[in-house]
Amino acid sequence: MAVKSSKPNRERFMLSCFTFIVFLCVFASINEVRFNGALPNESLPTNSEDDDLRILISVLTLPDQYQRRHFLRLVYGTQTTIEGAKVDVKFVFCNLTKEDQKVLVALEIMRYNDIIVLNCTENMNKGKTSTFFTSLPEIFNNETTTSGIVPYPPYHYVMKADDDTYVRLNSLVRSLRPLPREDLYYGFVIPCGSMDPFKHYMSGMGFVVSWDIVEWIHGSDIPRKHVEGPEDKVFGDWMRWARRGNNRFNAKWSMYNYPDPPSVCSHDLWNDTIAVHLLKNQEKWIRTLTYFNHTHALKPSKLYHIP
Ligand SMILES: *[C@@H]1O[C@H](CO)[C@@H](O)[C@H](O)[C@H]1NC(C)=O
Ligand SMILES: *[C@@H]1O[C@H](CO)[C@@H](O)[C@H](O)[C@H]1NC(C)=O
Ligand SMILES: *[C@@H]1O[C@H](CO)[C@@H](O)[C@H](O)[C@H]1NC(C)=O
Ligand SMILES: *[C@@H]1O[C@H](CO)[C@@H](O)[C@H](O)[C@H]1NC(C)=O
Ligand SMILES: *[C@@H]1O[C@H](CO)[C@@H](O)[C@H](O)[C@H]1NC(C)=O
Ligand SMILES: *[C@@H]1O[C@H](CO)[C@@H](O)[C@H](O)[C@H]1NC(C)=O
Repeated sequence: MAVKSSKPNRERFMLSCFTFIVFLCVFASINEVRFNGALPNESLPTNSEDDDLRILISVLTLPDQYQRRHFLRLVYGTQTTIEGAKVDVKFVFCNLTKEDQKVLVALEIMRYNDIIVLNCTENMNKGKTSTFFTSLPEIFNNETTTSGIVPYPPYHYVMKADDDTYVRLNSLVRSLRPLPREDLYYGFVIPCGSMDPFKHYMSGMGFVVSWDIVEWIHGSDIPRKHVEGPEDKVFGDWMRWARRGNNRFNAKWSMYNYPDPPSVCSHDLWNDTIAVHLLKNQEKWIRTLTYFNHTHALKPSKLYHIP
């Protein structure tokens, strides 16, 4: 008796399970329709993240260049970037070597959090740029934004810049926005006389690559085997040997060397400018900032009078 009566019970149980699952499916699909219909596109969190353009400008410098960093923080911190773009400026150098650096650099980091210390010994033409790019994916693989999201890629583009280069952030953003976000290699093509981005390589004054290239450098043998030499030329060799950076853009003459001394790589200051290079002294910086009306955004106040 007991065995017999359990069979219809089991059938009834299976049937109610099935009904419940069907009900769940219908419920879910109704909700999905409602969700899609009710929310405008831009309020979906994934979409708004995708619309952002994230750029890392990494200024390769030396630990002892405190004054230069102070000045560059002013120059970049006073530029407000246009909506939908995030530009982070970070200073990059190798291992600290002096006792005072451990305190002074730590203070800077506590205050500004804009320094990357690579695991390397300071060097010229011996692979600091290579160490930098190789380290980036691990440095940023789990960096969260203020909203707690880990965006991927952490940056669409990474620019390597010199500490004597003035980058106009919004001009850079406007220039990069329409460009591909993969396999991109962008900058001021060397030799200075050439307008062909495939000619040799992009000048170290400030070149940009997309994040997939950064990841490729991290994983590839080519950069590991070829590190010695002028860093921008070496970078160009990797691109050529590996047939990378096929989306190549020459930003000449929006990037150029400061007009004095005149050379085949220099250009007069003009409003169509993304970056000016070789700002080797204060006078050149002042002239450049003046030309681009950098301080015109200063608000009037009773606290000061600046003619
Ligand atoms: C939402 O975005 C998709 C793809 O971008 C587009 O095809 C669709 O028309 C958009 N819908 C609305 C309501 O804007
Ligand atoms: C730094 O690099 C050296 C080799 O140059 C290696 O032995 C060491 O483990 C590295 N340290 C860290 C923290 O990655
Ligand atoms: C850099 O410093 C770390 C410790 O802070 C050390 O483990 C590493 O070996 C040093 N790397 C080089 C290349 O000197
Ligand atoms: C990121 O990952 C490293 C190890 O890869 C870990 O030590 C660190 O705590 C992680 N940071 C966050 C914010 O999750
Ligand atoms: C700087 O401001 C002046 C006067 O307002 C203007 O004529 C000039 O075009 C501006 N220069 C640039 C590069 O925007
Ligand atoms: C740049 O200057 C030229 C003439 O000097 C002017 O026609 C043009 O509108 C300016 N462009 C910008 C973006 O200010």
